[in-house]
Amino acid sequence: MRNDELLYAASQLARHLKRSGVQWMPGPDAENVARLAESFQLPDARPPDGAQTPGQSAASRKPASTPADGPRKSAASRAADRGQPGRRPAPSPPDHLGDATRSRLAGVPPMEVSDGPYPGENLLAPQRVEVLESLANTVAQCQRCPHLASCRKQTVFGEGSVTPRFAFFGEGPGADEDRTGRPFVGRAGQLLTKMIEACTLRRDDVYILNTVKCRPPGNRNPEPTEIENCREYFTTQLSTLRPEYVVCLGAVAAQTLLQSKLSVGRLRGKLHRYFDSKVLVTYHPAYLLRNPSAKRAAWEDLQLMLRDAGIRTGQ
Ligand code: URA
Repeated sequence: MRNDELLYAASQLARHLKRSGVQWMPGPDAENVARLAESFQLPDARPPDGAQTPGQSAASRKPASTPADGPRKSAASRAADRGQPGRRPAPSPPDHLGDATRSRLAGVPPMEVSDGPYPGENLLAPQRVEVLESLANTVAQCQRCPHLASCRKQTVFGEGSVTPRFAFFGEGPGADEDRTGRPFVGRAGQLLTKMIEACTLRRDDVYILNTVKCRPPGNRNPEPTEIENCREYFTTQLSTLRPEYVVCLGAVAAQTLLQSKLSVGRLRGKLHRYFDSKVLVTYHPAYLLRNPSAKRAAWEDLQLMLRDAGIRTGQ
């Protein structure tokens, strides 16, 4: 198999595994694929120097990556170069695959992986404030979801420390948030504040944001397209803030960030990864208000994270 075929097949396999709930896999870039091939002792499929494979001109012949390419960049920094925080598309089907195969594969959505460092530069606090203020202005005028934009009183961007160790990632604004423009200020918000304080933190110490920035009418779940329209906003927030931990509150936040279809019950109880951040999944405070018996499990989740963070709560 040629390198580009191997790379493409690996990216498709990785995408399939990820959708099936596999939590970690090497990213489908040339470096990882080469490492994988090496570990299985695959013969190097590249033609020997001077040889030419069918359909490949001498001018275009080039190993997947050579020292002449300059220092290897991380996948994340390549994504940042493309101006897509947190997104890394799979390569498109190689030209030589033949029309039938190419058309079968056309339209396969790009896989996104989030391993390695956050894309872009790690900014100082004043620059973070600037980036976030400018993004908040953009979000305030957003019309990507015309229906949500026409129903909202205002957008709810997020708030808190710009150098947070912990970020709390919710689903979307409710009526109270829509009215005030601040995240988690209603009943669920009051419980979240108590959860934060039980962690020996103050609300001001952490950053609180939502998956979608507009209130879905009637407090329905956000639609997949609405989430995708907002993805750029929350990925930019997170790659600017670079929290050490992201706490996903409920299924919408967890499945969106981790790109998983698994339930909160399946995702909780361990730390996942989103770029440099460790990710904890737990129940949404609104769910805890409806199901108080789940509070113990949520507290166990938070304690798992606090132990990892070296924070003692005395319980
Ligand atoms: N629920 C959320 O997910 N986010 C809020 O801001 C409020 C309630």
